[in-house]
Amino acid sequence: VKFGGLNMEDEQLASFNRIVITACGTSWHSGLIGEYMLEEIARVPVDVEYASEFRYRNPCVDEKTLVLAISQSGETADTLAAMREGKRRGATVMGLVNAVGSTIARESDFGIYLHAGPEIGVASTKAFTSQVCALTLFTILMARLRTMSILQGREILHAMTQLPDQIEQVLELNDAIRELARTYKDTANFLYLGRGANFPSALEGALKLKEISYIHAEGYPAAEMKHGPIALIDQNMPVVVVATRDSVYSKVLSNVEEVKARRARVLATVNDGDSDVARLADHVIEVPETDDMLTPILSVV
Ligand code: BG6
Repeated sequence: VKFGGLNMEDEQLASFNRIVITACGTSWHSGLIGEYMLEEIARVPVDVEYASEFRYRNPCVDEKTLVLAISQSGETADTLAAMREGKRRGATVMGLVNAVGSTIARESDFGIYLHAGPEIGVASTKAFTSQVCALTLFTILMARLRTMSILQGREILHAMTQLPDQIEQVLELNDAIRELARTYKDTANFLYLGRGANFPSALEGALKLKEISYIHAEGYPAAEMKHGPIALIDQNMPVVVVATRDSVYSKVLSNVEEVKARRARVLATVNDGDSDVARLADHVIEVPETDDMLTPILSVV
């Protein structure tokens, strides 16, 4: 993997002993996926911090830390202040930004541009999916400097090349999803659940429902649901579950059983041809299968 804006020697990239990802909103959610990928594949310790918290804390950041600021606009005040705080403490700052020439892009030591084009809709799907793609590429770069085999890297890259066609397939579900939206338009509350790389997808789904539809929604790691939110689950609380066939599929399946036991209606995002979750769910949205870490791209679309 080669990035045009990453003017840094391999030795310097390999020398960071920790990455702190800082961002807000949707960009924070892609950062969380970045954490899962970087730790799983590149074996680098990663923390993901809300920029608004990071800037006012006393974070353990030094010159061995890479601060990764993620922002679509490159102008979010909290993210900018967080990266400046990281710099002040001696960290190297890398920007993952869409808007060319924005303040975060200019103030970063080096960076990656998303080149996703102008982001117009609040849904920010384009920024989110591009951020996850760029984080995947960055993970491969870091992982190849460490322990990942060239074959594993190629497998992930191959899965990435399938994404445009797979996204087209998801977009074909437009009419069916519109019908689903009509069915649930008067619902006041939603719960979104997911695990692994799709826990951030659940957070992102809930955030978008709030921001665009003005409907209250909460995103949770599917298993954490039983430690509190389960008290709210009944026939009036539809639950959106991301249950793609990845390494935590069987775990999510048992979470769906728990939700159904409380008589909630379940809207599940599953992989094509799924029968186990589909048998329990009231509605399914079928998306194509991809690499575990890339599933949020298709689920979020
Ligand atoms: C918030 C928006 O103000 O900023 C979110 O409501 C957005 O939708 C967040 O994700 C971060 O924006 P950016 O431009 O820094 O990625």
